[in-house]
Amino acid sequence: MLPHVYSGKVRDIYDAGDDRLLMVTSDRMSAFDVVMNEAIPSKGRVLTAMTAFWLEHLSDVAGSHLISTELDDLPQEARLPEWAGRVMLCHRAEMLLIECIVRGYLSGSAWKEYKTSGTMHGTKLPGGLQESDQLPEPIFTPSTKAEQGLHDENISFEQAVDLVGQETATKARDISLELYRRGSERAAERGIIIADTKFELGFVGGELVLCDEVLTPDSSRFWPADEWKPGITPPAFDKQPLRDYLDGLDWDKRPPPPPLSDEIVQETSARYREGYERITGRSLNDWPGA
Ligand SMILES: Nc1ncnc2c1ncn2[C@@H]1O[C@H](COP(=O)(O)OP(=O)(O)OP(=O)(O)O)[C@@H](O)[C@H]1O
Ligand SMILES: [Mg+2]
Repeated sequence: MLPHVYSGKVRDIYDAGDDRLLMVTSDRMSAFDVVMNEAIPSKGRVLTAMTAFWLEHLSDVAGSHLISTELDDLPQEARLPEWAGRVMLCHRAEMLLIECIVRGYLSGSAWKEYKTSGTMHGTKLPGGLQESDQLPEPIFTPSTKAEQGLHDENISFEQAVDLVGQETATKARDISLELYRRGSERAAERGIIIADTKFELGFVGGELVLCDEVLTPDSSRFWPADEWKPGITPPAFDKQPLRDYLDGLDWDKRPPPPPLSDEIVQETSARYREGYERITGRSLNDWPGA
């Protein structure tokens, strides 16, 4: 087998030689930062297919690390049938030390900060905004890339400049804002709000390109547009059945996770699939591994 490099909560990464990485997206599901015991069928294929769709759709905004999603293009020993549809052969990039977050709506940690100090990543926002309000315009709100197990820290644009330099920070911001604008425009046509998202950029051959997963429900907040309104936390398009179930339990949100019923597992799987099919207009059955 290829040498194993790293495993995150969802992905397993292998060294594919020639400065290439193989990213294999599993069906593992995390909620409240805890990985569930049950796999969500098709989730890894959805995340892979969606990333591939966006990289193609947005290729005029930024280049990408992706070489292939076909099993046949992998080194012989990595062509495992169970990996069909969930592999990304990529150029190894020199990753930026920041995560490129763009927020179009006020939610999550940004809402918490605004509520206490009227700012977002240290920058003053207009007064009187409610939770989940649309921001006057999408804003680039970077964070540090924390070591494994630690939480990323929200930083200001000036702090991002200190970490990666003025030129790269400016480029990363401009690319990220344009990716978000284009991506959220497409999703909105399909009835999905992308409230915020995290891009990861890195250098390949001296060019700043889009890496990692792109505009997926795992890297973004997707809301059904018809269930959004300011003042509430709109349901997450993908995780809501699971979160509602977990919230109804007497569980302290620390490992070990509680067991999930087959119904919750199937419902969550269907949500992921629906998100993919709505946004891309493609059928998941046409993606490898069906
Ligand atoms: N082309 C690339 N070259 C080098 N590193 C990459 C590339 N694309 C993505 N990465 C890195 O690979 C890792 C992907 O890991 P993964 O997303 O599975 O776990 P994680 O981000 O550590 O945790 P989480 O499970 O919360 O996402 C990230 O650290 C990401 O920055
Ligand atoms: Mg990740």
